[in-house]
Amino acid sequence: MKKWNLIGTLALGAMLLAACGDDAANEKASTEDKKVLEMATSADFPPFESRNTAGEFEGFDIDLANYIADELGYKLEIKDMKFDGLIGALQNDRIDMVLSGMSATDKRKENVDFSTEYNHSGEMFITLKDSDIQSIEDLEGKKLGVQLGTIQEDGAKKIKAETVDFEIKALDSANILIQELLSDRIDAAYVDKAVAQGFIAEQDLAGFDDPTSSSPGMGIAFPKGSDLVEDVNAVLKKAEESGKLQELKDKWLSEE
Ligand code: ARG
Repeated sequence: MKKWNLIGTLALGAMLLAACGDDAANEKASTEDKKVLEMATSADFPPFESRNTAGEFEGFDIDLANYIADELGYKLEIKDMKFDGLIGALQNDRIDMVLSGMSATDKRKENVDFSTEYNHSGEMFITLKDSDIQSIEDLEGKKLGVQLGTIQEDGAKKIKAETVDFEIKALDSANILIQELLSDRIDAAYVDKAVAQGFIAEQDLAGFDDPTSSSPGMGIAFPKGSDLVEDVNAVLKKAEESGKLQELKDKWLSEE
């Protein structure tokens, strides 16, 4: 008797859950007419993603994400998160995809799936203009800032283990990195080249290329096994062939 009650309760629960799921989906479709694609990014990384003075998202990744959503018939919703939390959000299925200047590393591929690479940028060290740091060796005894969870954080640890000794300061956002540099709390910042070039020009800073790194290109990240990977790869291929990708590169990454 007890057993049947339990089964009955479970079945009812399942029915209710299924019904709720349907309702939620219908409501979404009718109020917005389109399926929603939830993308997350860490909007501290111009020219890939940042917010303008009105607080709106802008940048290469933002345009590319909008293009992809349009092509696939989705309405794009963007969530701003700490870079360090993006992979976890994908793993918990809280978001559908990440465009955040994210390098498609083998280490990340253990936890998420990547699209084909859509851009490649090396790394640079940024310093103040009058800095005496002009090479990796000059970092000896200095403070190097990196963004938490980035390939530059790993890269800095590697350089420190293999080459010269310095202190690594891992910070939440790339904007904070630049603030720390401008206020002399770090001696150099280690960032993707296209981003570094922008900050150098905008804040009148200096910098030099990283000769050590051979990092992979940037990819769009998805939860493991996501059906979207194939669809998005098809859109990227189309964008490559039609010149759309080049158009976006010319618009946002022309300093390279
Ligand atoms: N390309 C580097 C990486 O994948 C840094 C990306 C940082 N992105 C950002 N939106 N802050 O680790």
